[in-house]
Formats: sequence, C-alpha cells, structure tokens
Amino acid sequence: MVTSTVTTTTSTVRARAEGHALDRAVELAERGPIAGGNPRVGCVLLDPTGAVLGEGLHLGAGSPHAEAVALSAVPASRRAELSGATAVLTLEPCHHHGRTPPCSQALHDAGVTRVVHAVADPDETAAGGAAWLRSVGVEALTSADAGIAPAATARAEELTRSWAAAVRRRRPWLVAKTATSLDGRVAAADGTSRWITGPASRAHAHSVRADTDAVVVGTGTVAADDPALTARDADGPLAEQPLRVVVGERDVPPAARLRRGPGQWHHVRTHDLTAVLEELYGFGARHVLLEGGPTLLGAALRAGLVDELHAYVAPVLVGGGTAAVRDLGVTTITDALRWRTVSTQRLGDDLFLIARPEGAQ
Ligand SMILES: NC(=O)c1ccc[n+]([C@@H]2O[C@H](COP(=O)([O-])OP(=O)(O)OC[C@H]3O[C@@H](n4cnc5c(N)ncnc54)[C@H](OP(=O)(O)O)[C@@H]3O)[C@@H](O)[C@H]2O)c1
Repeated sequence: MVTSTVTTTTSTVRARAEGHALDRAVELAERGPIAGGNPRVGCVLLDPTGAVLGEGLHLGAGSPHAEAVALSAVPASRRAELSGATAVLTLEPCHHHGRTPPCSQALHDAGVTRVVHAVADPDETAAGGAAWLRSVGVEALTSADAGIAPAATARAEELTRSWAAAVRRRRPWLVAKTATSLDGRVAAADGTSRWITGPASRAHAHSVRADTDAVVVGTGTVAADDPALTARDADGPLAEQPLRVVVGERDVPPAARLRRGPGQWHHVRTHDLTAVLEELYGFGARHVLLEGGPTLLGAALRAGLVDELHAYVAPVLVGGGTAAVRDLGVTTITDALRWRTVSTQRLGDDLFLIARPEGAQ
C-alpha cells in the first residue's frame, strides 16, 4: 500500500515535470521558422530529479535538429548527468540519416534512458525513432502515455499541425486569405480593392507571407491589382521571400510587378489546383498562402483544398462589388460550408479571424 502510494506520487511528480518541459519545448519550437519545409521542434533534457540539463530548438532545414542543439547545450560540468536523463520532445526523434545524423541514435549515445514525445513523426523516411529507442532498451513513450496533461500535448499538436498534414498528404497546408468589407466584398463595382482593410491588417498579412513557402494568385488578380506579392515590413522587402506563383492560362504581362524581385516567381498554366499544390510540395513547400481572387478561392474551396481561412474583415460597407468567393455550388443554406472559428484578433479597426473546416484535423 505504502509502496503503491509512493510510486503514484513519484509518477505524478514526474508527469508534472515532463509536462512543464513539454510546454517549454513548445515555447522554444515556436521561435523556429514556419517556412522552409522542416517542422518546428523543441527539446528539453531533464536530469533524474526533473531539473533542466539543456534545451534546444530546430532553426530550419540544414541546421541541427532540436535534440542535437539540446545535447550540445548541456554544460561540460553536467555532461555525466546525461546518463539516465529524460528527453522531452514536441516531435518523435527522427531515425534517418539526412543532412544530420539520426536523433534517436544521438540521444541513446548520450546516455538518455527515457524519451517522451508529443507528436508521432508522419514522415515515412524519418519515422521509427521511438520504436528503435525501445529496441535498444530506452523507455520511449508518447506524452499521453507518460501521463502529461492533455493541454501540453494539444499545444504541441497545434504547433506541428500544418507541417504534419502536409507530409501525410504530400501536398502543402493551404491557407486562404481574404480581405473583405463588412458586407463580404473584396472589391468595389469598378474592380478597385485598395485598400479595404487598414494598415494593421496589411502589416499582419505581410508577416504571414514571410512565414510561408509560396504565395499563390490567379491571373485575374495579376490583371486587376498588379500585386508585387513580396513580403515586406516597414523597412521594405524582407531578405527571405516566398515563391510567388501565378495560376491560369493567360500570360503574365511583361511589365507585371511580380516579375521583378526580390525572390522568385513561377507561372503554372493550368486550372488544376491539386496539381499546382503537388508541384509546390515537390519544390519543398509545406505551407502555402492563397491570395487569389474569388475565382481561385471558389475553385480551391470546391476542391476541398483549403485547410485554413484567414479573414481580415474591415468595418467598411461597399454595397455591390465582388463577393469574396465565387461559385461554391451552394443553393440552399443547409449546403453552406460551415467552419469552426479557431481564433479572433482585433487589428486596428479590423477583425482578423482564423477558421478551419468543421472536423478538420
Ligand atoms: N480583397 C482581397 O482579398 C482580394 C484578393 C485577391 C483579389 N481580389 C480582387 O479580386 C478580383 C480578381 O478576381 P479573380 O477571380 O479574377 O482573380 P483570381 O481568382 O486571382 O484569378 C482568376 C483567374 O485565374 C485563372 N484560374 C486559375 N485556376 C483556376 C481555376 N481552378 N478555376 C478558374 N479559373 C482559374 C483564370 O484565368 P485564366 O483565363 O488565365 O486561366 C481565372 O480567370 C480583383 O478585383 C481583385 O482586386 C481581392
């Protein structure tokens, strides 16, 4: 009786320490880049008393993985404590030789005897880290099995969601952006749309562009707005630019702003948006932003390709003009696409709302 109470208390204390470590790992991972093709990952190493030995995050493709960063962050005076240590991770350690050696092996070699991860690696070539660790005698388990509070696991899942979905489906996570008036218009009757939303919304939209691998519009938006589609802040274009993609049969005019740099642009003469996304996945894109007009947005929604809607809504009334989405095939309200609001935020006078399809992962 006494033994079982002590065991329960010990595992509760351990789950609490590992839960804090997972929260911290998420916090670290959030500082990593969303764009660039790799997942955001955080790692915290704990000694057997639950004290932090080292921590790390992954800073994107080509840079060391979070586990390697955390291992190298352990001070020389404490390296001996790695023997018997626990690694708490947002994502299962990889088990393949890519640009860096397998993290499963690195943790084992360092003496780590317990590995807790929140999200299983969906990448077939990299998965299997936890199973391999178990095969060499390391206690490797999920955060749920480790008794960590579900909220911490949920944060890690949210952090990894877009990348994991992209890798599982082999097409990028697609965010569609709309900037509308209060009455759902993206342009006035004469086609003008600059600017419906305010400066805070536009600055926010640029920060989202900076976090994305590719920005996609249709030839209609190029013809109407001649957008540069670059990611900019108050000081001008950013050093890292998303690939700018135009979809449609029409030519891109020789003087179009998006032909100029900085960054690359690409024209795909098709209406097949699934093929466009698969091509972008092949280029390494995991996170794509659709900034097209109502035709492209309608086509993407009809094809079930939109994972997330970023709606900037301004307190502006236009009356007629162009509705945000064309041709959804909805003729009666019961057929309307009903989505779930993930978050809302006020940006100056505007509202910024993120929604996802009901039942989406
Ligand atoms: N406020 C906002 O958020 C926002 C954002 C973007 C645009 N706009 C406004 O939207 C208006 C432009 O609307 P839009 O609908 O013409 O722009 P769009 O959706 O960007 O471009 C439509 C064109 O893309 C091509 N296309 C590519 N894939 C397609 C597919 N699967 N199905 C059908 N067409 C496809 C077609 O041209 P081809 O004939 O060349 O194939 C089509 O005419 C402008 O007034 C602009 O200001 C507003």
